[in-house]
Order: sequence, then structure tokens, then C-alpha cells
Amino acid sequence: MKRVITYGTFDTLHYGHIRLLQRARALGDYLIVALSTDEFNALKNKTAFHSWEERKAHLEALRYVDLVIPENTWEQKRDDVRLYRVDIFTMGDDWKGKFDFLSDLCEVHYMPRTERISSTMIRHSLNSA
Ligand code: CTP
Repeated sequence: MKRVITYGTFDTLHYGHIRLLQRARALGDYLIVALSTDEFNALKNKTAFHSWEERKAHLEALRYVDLVIPENTWEQKRDDVRLYRVDIFTMGDDWKGKFDFLSDLCEVHYMPRTERISSTMIRHSLNSA
């Protein structure tokens, strides 16, 4: 069984996220999503519209997602890969090259981002509605 992991905030779940998760799951048989906590987002100067619990519930409702775990720090990735016996680490190509340091532990794969949609765009629309 091939285990895949990806990281992100996945706020205001949208078509770009769905396509990312669908392709990530298709790389293997089991998809883990490490979901940025509200505290970690605060460190990144990012405020999600939905709470961690709400974002987790959205992801768990998807057939592509097998497990959601918290992402608390930038540094946890190597431990996660070992702990969850991950075969493939994947992210959208806005992160291209940033996680190549994991390639001694697992395969690192970047996927094309979906154009013209992002949580930031949706949050702006919600806030100005
Ligand atoms: N992603 C994607 N296509 C998009 C938006 C996001 O493939 N249009 C991917 C990202 O590359 C990442 C994952 O989805 O691997 C989670 O991204 P996230 O940062 O949560 O989504 P964004 O919509 O980019 O959020 P924000 O605008 O807050 O940065």
C-alpha cells in the first residue's frame, strides 16, 4: 500500500483543493492531509475563514482523504514521513523545490496548481459581501 501526504490550510474548500486532493490520492492508496492549525496559521500571518475543526470536517467528507492530522510547525515533516510510513510527499507547484530535502526519505512530487482560484480570492469576496 502506497501512502501519500500533503500539507495545507484548505480554507473555504474549493475546486483547486479538490483537484489537488484527487490527484494526490491517485498517486497512491492512502492520503494523509496535514492541516495547518489556527495557531500555526497565526505564525504565518494567515487567518482562515473557517476554524481548524470546520476545515477538518470538510476534508473528512471527501472520498479522497483517508486521514487528517494537525500541522503545527514547519519542522514536523520529516517526523511525519517516518511516523506515518509515507511513500510520497506532494504539494502544488507553488511550493516547487521547497521540500526536496525530504527526498532521502520519500518521493517528492509537485503538481500543477489550478488557475484562477484560491482561498484568498474567496475570503476577499466573503469579506466584501
Ligand atoms: N492548490 C492548488 N490550486 C489552487 C489552490 C491551491 O493546487 N488553485 C493547492 C496548493 O498548491 C496546496 C494545497 O492546494 O498544495 C493547499 O493550498 P492552500 O494554501 O490551502 O490553498 P490556497 O487556495 O492557495 O490558499 P491561500 O489563498 O490562503 O494561499
